[in-house]
Amino acid sequence: MSNSLKHLGIIMDGNGRWAQKHGFKRNRGHEVGAEVVRDITAFCSQHNEIETLTLYAFSTENWRRPKLEVDFLMRLISRYLNKELENYMKNGVRFETIGDLEPFSNKLRKTIEQTKELTKNNSNLVQILALNYGARDEIVRSVNKLLQENREITIESLGSALDTPYSDLDLLIRTSGEERVSSFLLWQIAYSEFAFTKTLWPDFTRTELESIIENYKKRERRFGAI
Ligand code: IPE
Ligand code: IPE
Ligand code: MG
Repeated sequence: MSNSLKHLGIIMDGNGRWAQKHGFKRNRGHEVGAEVVRDITAFCSQHNEIETLTLYAFSTENWRRPKLEVDFLMRLISRYLNKELENYMKNGVRFETIGDLEPFSNKLRKTIEQTKELTKNNSNLVQILALNYGARDEIVRSVNKLLQENREITIESLGSALDTPYSDLDLLIRTSGEERVSSFLLWQIAYSEFAFTKTLWPDFTRTELESIIENYKKRERRFGAI
């Protein structure tokens, strides 16, 4: 029996290097990267097994980038969501986020909340964008939430207090050749399979995703048993 694939996570890396390679400014890489998000999300919404797609879009450490790049990314997220609503409805995609939205502008937060509300009954796929997300930040916020409610910390209580009470990750892909986690979903990847590809995110295609999935299907996941 091959592995089931319900929850796929992707660390979308390499936009800047892609732009540099083609003689463009870094922001162009982010723009093309957003088109790839659109295509991969459509693919996952049609896939008969994938229920959740979690995409690392902006980390708690990405604020360290130059203000111009950060501002561009904020505008891009907003533009992406406005443009995407039609596709979310057409493809049956529910939009969700993980991460602390507090530092974002009121306008962007409103767009995010509206998109969640308008797509909440779509059931082909949940697309979760990790925005101002860092796994340590998520774990600390969740522990504090439980402490405030005077609740005991157990694997179950903490697991369901996280931003992602959806499910553990089955497969984690990182593009661009870097082989690190950069504080993406630490708790949820306890037993995930990893796939690293040298392809830069703007060059990533559904054909490559299909071949990664095919490889994942053949692996043996033991979860500590024999
Ligand atoms: C990933 O691409 C997108 C974000 C982190 C927002 P990068 O911008 O990190 O691209 P590289 O790693 O510099 O090539
Ligand atoms: C991780 O990529 C964050 C996102 C893809 C959003 P980075 O490019 O920020 O990570 P590092 O700095 O190479 O670890
Ligand atoms: Mg990077």
